Amino acid sequence: MTTDNDFLLSVEALTVSFDGFKAVDDLSFYVDENEIRVIIGPNGAGKTTALDLICGKTRATSGSIRFRGKELTAMKEHQIVHAGVGRKFQNPSIYDDLTVFENLEISYPKGRSVFGALTFKRDGVVTSRVEEVAEMIFLADHLEERAEFLSHGQKQWLEIGMLLIQDPELLMLDEPVAGMSVSERVKTAELLHRIIVGRSVIVIEHDMKFVEDIAHRVTVLHQGRVISEGTMAHVQADPKVVEVYLGH
Ligand SMILES: Nc1ncnc2c1ncn2[C@@H]1O[C@H](COP(=O)(O)OP(=O)(O)OP(=O)(O)O)[C@@H](O)[C@H]1O
Ligand SMILES: [Mg+2]
Repeated sequence: MTTDNDFLLSVEALTVSFDGFKAVDDLSFYVDENEIRVIIGPNGAGKTTALDLICGKTRATSGSIRFRGKELTAMKEHQIVHAGVGRKFQNPSIYDDLTVFENLEISYPKGRSVFGALTFKRDGVVTSRVEEVAEMIFLADHLEERAEFLSHGQKQWLEIGMLLIQDPELLMLDEPVAGMSVSERVKTAELLHRIIVGRSVIVIEHDMKFVEDIAHRVTVLHQGRVISEGTMAHVQADPKVVEVYLGH
């Protein structure tokens, strides 16, 4: 028998109403471990709002969000981060006047180290983790560069790195390749495939080439509801999806 506990994330009958308008309306979907799930749909479909609900930025009117069996709807934003859910917003929130190294270092979870007061040892652990993440996000050669001098794409990667260093089990990215060059998009797809070992990723994207490159499964939202779900090939061939989104 399949139960909720077989999924990393179970969203069930989730609804949020803003002055009577249901931006997310009876939404249910399930994300597996090590899965890249992409959420697509027209502007205003409720995609960003769905992530806002999962990360606790917005409170649900009703429904449930279970992550590793824990109910998230009653938890505060920082508790949800602590439970292992990381969220990247549309605009990078990096520190422009700090270097790449410092931006990553500042994001390393406090109190995670087993070395306690032995700061020397902790520093070594943090430095090697910073270097490891920098390598992953293609910024190993830019560690001493101030973040303000990075390209738009590199800034997006840095912010992903700032989340990765916290080692979340679920990473949520809202339009990560918007404004990126073609080669940066290809590298971002490569990055996502690399980071799902031991974690899952939910990505919102409008770039269908990129979606095709990364998605294990695609959930299509329209007016706050799921209208189709499955492989990219499945949803692309679904007349409902063509009608409200892909045909435009
Ligand atoms: N705090 C809020 N108060 C009132 N309405 C809101 C609020 N947040 C979102 N909405 C409305 O909910 C709907 C869904 O918005 P949302 O930002 O989730 O769409 P989206 O699918 O992310 O669209 P896009 O592709 O343009 O980013 C929109 O009509 C939006 O105006
Ligand atoms: Mg959005």
